[in-house]
Amino acid sequence: MEYITLNNQTTIPTAGIGTFLMEPDEAQNAVVNALNNGYTLIDTANAYMNEKAVGRGMKASGKTREEIYLSTKLWPSEYMTAANAIEATLKRLDTDYIDLLFLHQPVGDYFGAYKAMEDAVKAGKVKSLGLSNFDIEEIKEVIDKTEIKPAVIQVETHPYFPQTELKTYLDEIGAVVMAWYPLGHGDTALVNENVFLELAKKYGKSNAQIILRWHVQSGNIVIPGSKNSEHIKDNIQIFDFSLTVDEMNQISTINKNTRYYYATKEMLEGYLNFAPDFDAQK
Ligand SMILES: NC(=O)c1ccc[n+]([C@@H]2O[C@H](COP(=O)([O-])OP(=O)(O)OC[C@H]3O[C@@H](n4cnc5c(N)ncnc54)[C@H](OP(=O)(O)O)[C@@H]3O)[C@@H](O)[C@H]2O)c1
Repeated sequence: MEYITLNNQTTIPTAGIGTFLMEPDEAQNAVVNALNNGYTLIDTANAYMNEKAVGRGMKASGKTREEIYLSTKLWPSEYMTAANAIEATLKRLDTDYIDLLFLHQPVGDYFGAYKAMEDAVKAGKVKSLGLSNFDIEEIKEVIDKTEIKPAVIQVETHPYFPQTELKTYLDEIGAVVMAWYPLGHGDTALVNENVFLELAKKYGKSNAQIILRWHVQSGNIVIPGSKNSEHIKDNIQIFDFSLTVDEMNQISTINKNTRYYYATKEMLEGYLNFAPDFDAQK
């Protein structure tokens, strides 16, 4: 495992597992599987409706809380009552603290919610703060109006959309990218690009491992999602080889500047109306 020191001097593993679109049982199994195969970073969110299961998986793994790096995200419907929402999130995850807490989407009262997150940092309930799906202007505004700099920005990032402009800005504030859809959500057109087939052959790795290695060498944190125990095992075996500068450059040529998912302003507004009972999850 490799680690990055964040702008608040805490460290974060560069690879973990994501739990988006996992039913509670699937998330619990994936978390146990990951933690027993060398992972320490787990990413979830209020909106995934599997935080209770992630908490059960952490306990069932036999790992201590300190051995695990846990990130989760507040959903916009929770922003107006963020202090309570943080308590409820801690309860669902069955933990005393969250290592990294994100605002999930840039809509609604996100300044108010961020301030509540800062209070949670001061109270020791949260260690680091992050923003998810915020663009450069939105990140700048949060930094201008608040005290604690965000340490991690979680955005869609993969070889077809490497977030070059955002990363140049993040260097200025010492923040790093956590890549969502690091494997393009499993898109075979991306995973089977020739460059990955060739490098996989050269290094005796899978195409997915080459892509994940490209991410960590680009300075990204990766959280590939997987319900498949072989993939879970493989996705962490990316620290025993290195791509050359030429190979990194070769991969950068497949950038298409296209993303798989982009929320328009209207879609973001719609997220405010999605307000499930998060405590009702299994
Ligand atoms: N902040 C946000 O708005 C946001 C949005 C989306 C996602 N996320 C986070 O990012 C994480 C990753 O995104 P994602 O899971 O949607 O996409 P992803 O990691 O890019 O791709 C996951 C897909 O790739 C497949 N896969 C995983 N490992 C593989 C391997 N070694 N070989 C071949 N296929 C493999 C998985 O199938 P199998 O199950 O069969 O392995 C799954 O279908 C999420 O779980 C979530 O934590 C955040």
